[in-house]
Amino acid sequence: MNKIGLFFGPIGGSTNRVGKLIAEKIGNEFVDLIPVKEATTETLSKYDNIIFGISTLGRETWDGEHTKNDWDVFMPSLEEFDFSDKKVAIYGLGDSVTYAQFFVDHMGILAQKLLNAKATLIGKVSPEGYSFEDSKALIDGAFIGLPIDEDFEDYLTEERVSAWVEQIKPELL
Ligand SMILES: Cc1cc2nc3c(=O)[nH]c(=O)nc-3n(C[C@H](O)[C@H](O)[C@H](O)COP(=O)(O)O)c2cc1C
Repeated sequence: MNKIGLFFGPIGGSTNRVGKLIAEKIGNEFVDLIPVKEATTETLSKYDNIIFGISTLGRETWDGEHTKNDWDVFMPSLEEFDFSDKKVAIYGLGDSVTYAQFFVDHMGILAQKLLNAKATLIGKVSPEGYSFEDSKALIDGAFIGLPIDEDFEDYLTEERVSAWVEQIKPELL
């Protein structure tokens, strides 16, 4: 059986922690957890089934110069990559209260790049049960992946992850 490649960034925060939880729920033996900081397109090509984990850190909120984060460095390489034989699921960390108008925007930006690169995206999630104002991750009325808010709704993370894993596991394994 082919393993799932779970690529996440940054290291050491909520995206990392939720990545570990997803791997645990799928079964750690089926998942390789790989920080995007250590990944190249060569690493990606080893996997037919991929999960991407990304947080949204809106640039408009930064003071001064923006330093490139792990995803800023990795994302451009995806545009050159052919995802046509890959199944991809995305989860995104965000804050639905402080950034209600930009909730998990970067999950949407990543999804758009993957769709342009011909990926098959799985794991869409209904916006029901989330409160927010707007999100680039909403495509045709559904979230293009799993939004997680560890800042204000951490008590919902476990059940959200469990339901999502039930949904994607049969498609990825
Ligand atoms: C400077 C800054 C900007 C942020 N901008 C957004 C945003 O635009 N949209 C959003 O949903 N969350 C935003 N967040 C919330 C983070 O995405 C959230 O805290 C997330 O859990 C961080 O994950 P990480 O620890 O893996 O980086 C922002 C957080 C910070 C500190």
